[in-house]
Amino acid sequence: MTTTIPGLPPNADPVQILRAGIEAAEGPVSLACSFSLEDVAIIHIAHEAGLPLGVFALDTGRLNEETCEVADALVERYRLHIDWFFPRHEAVEQLERAEGLFSFRESLDKRHACCHIRKVEPLTRALTGLAGWATGMRREQSVTRNDLQAIERDTLNGDILKINPLIDWSEEQLTNYTDEHRLPKNRLYSQGYRSIGCAPCTRAVQPGEDARAGRWWWENPEHKECGLHRR
Ligand code: ADX
Ligand code: SF4
Repeated sequence: MTTTIPGLPPNADPVQILRAGIEAAEGPVSLACSFSLEDVAIIHIAHEAGLPLGVFALDTGRLNEETCEVADALVERYRLHIDWFFPRHEAVEQLERAEGLFSFRESLDKRHACCHIRKVEPLTRALTGLAGWATGMRREQSVTRNDLQAIERDTLNGDILKINPLIDWSEEQLTNYTDEHRLPKNRLYSQGYRSIGCAPCTRAVQPGEDARAGRWWWENPEHKECGLHRR
């Protein structure tokens, strides 16, 4: 749901959006960090501007080693504290015993079931007690994100604020920013990956393909959301 923040200009830059969102939240705000270029840029921006932004991450149990290496690099560079959240182990055990290790490839329902256990349910715990959360979502990423707002009310997660500081950045802007500030970068980007989630559901894309074509590549573009960003 859209929300209006007094004094936030229509073309606000990431620092202005982040600062306005944190002030408007009037309580603790954390970044949901998947260790993407976007999330790393937000950590750097908050650090440089001295903004109070916590960081949490959802360890789905199926992340790439290369992604974990970025987490380690961030801890080293910023002395960052990352709040890790994990799926309920009983739910994962039940899923894997009943359905095997790759059930998410069999149907959209089964894919949603895995994402629910490994991402959505842990997210609800991660957001408990927060007044707002920040994400690395950008409008141009996908048809499912075209109508994103810089700061939204997240009514599905306790009516807290959801802040998208990089909403208007292009992939080129983001890459330039990463290079200019020598930010930690997942090695998979240099292997043709352009959007990185869980290892078995992400692959490199071919030149000319959509940036998210490598996410759940067996599904249609309008289905390519895991439920973290239901609106
Ligand atoms: S997804 O919904 O398709 O998986 P995407 O990978 O584009 O999302 O990431 C969008 C934003 O969702 C990230 O910038 C980050 O804020 C959040 N996010 C995605 N995956 C995670 C994760 N494993 N842990 C924490 N936040 C995440
Ligand atoms: Fe499961 Fe794939 Fe969703 Fe990760 S992205 S939670 S492995 S279905």
